[in-house]
Amino acid sequence: MAKVNVGVLASGRGSNFEALARALSRDVFDAGIRLVVSNVPDAPVLKRAEALEIPCVVINHHEHKTRQSFELALINELEHHDIGLVCLAGFMRILSPTFVDHFRDRVMNVHPSLLPAFAGLHGEAVHTAVIEAGVKVTGCTVHFVTAEVDAGPIIVQRTLPVREEDTPASLALRVLVEEHQAYPEAVRLFAQGLLKVEGRRVRITGTL
Ligand code: GAR
Repeated sequence: MAKVNVGVLASGRGSNFEALARALSRDVFDAGIRLVVSNVPDAPVLKRAEALEIPCVVINHHEHKTRQSFELALINELEHHDIGLVCLAGFMRILSPTFVDHFRDRVMNVHPSLLPAFAGLHGEAVHTAVIEAGVKVTGCTVHFVTAEVDAGPIIVQRTLPVREEDTPASLALRVLVEEHQAYPEAVRLFAQGLLKVEGRRVRITGTL
């Protein structure tokens, strides 16, 4: 199986990055995070990357006049490191077709709800909306990224019950635990060549 160099784009805390890095480093097959790019110069994810001795760079969107110029800088950096799969992990910039078409079916994102429900929201706002909607089950989704926000083909979902006593913060914590399982699972499936995108669906062509 060909080696898959993974690049992570992250803007904040970086717990998904770290969970992914640790999970992949234990794997027998050759997929690993080769680069972390943050658009936020003091994002905690950068410290986590340094601690794990994974190269990281900052590409600050404020230093680019246009979205296209920012995305071309991202593409350039990722290509320079021979990145075959891009994982968004709390990356708080919307990516346009400039980026998404370049890495077609090679960009994943993790979202803290069961998409297509509660799309277009970030972080704790998702869990507030989940509680307000009164749904009994929530979870997380790893999906391929398309130019339409949170609407790309779904790879892995994990579910959990919403409890009477849940708050947005308590739900966020429990969903995060599931994210940390779901993301490595999706990347492993990709790295083994088991994912086939067919329209809006992802077919898993074998088992781990
Ligand atoms: C995660 O919960 C992720 O699902 C969410 O941001 C958090 C990042 O945490 N992403 C979104 O809401 C995207 N719409 P992390 O920095 O600790 O990985």
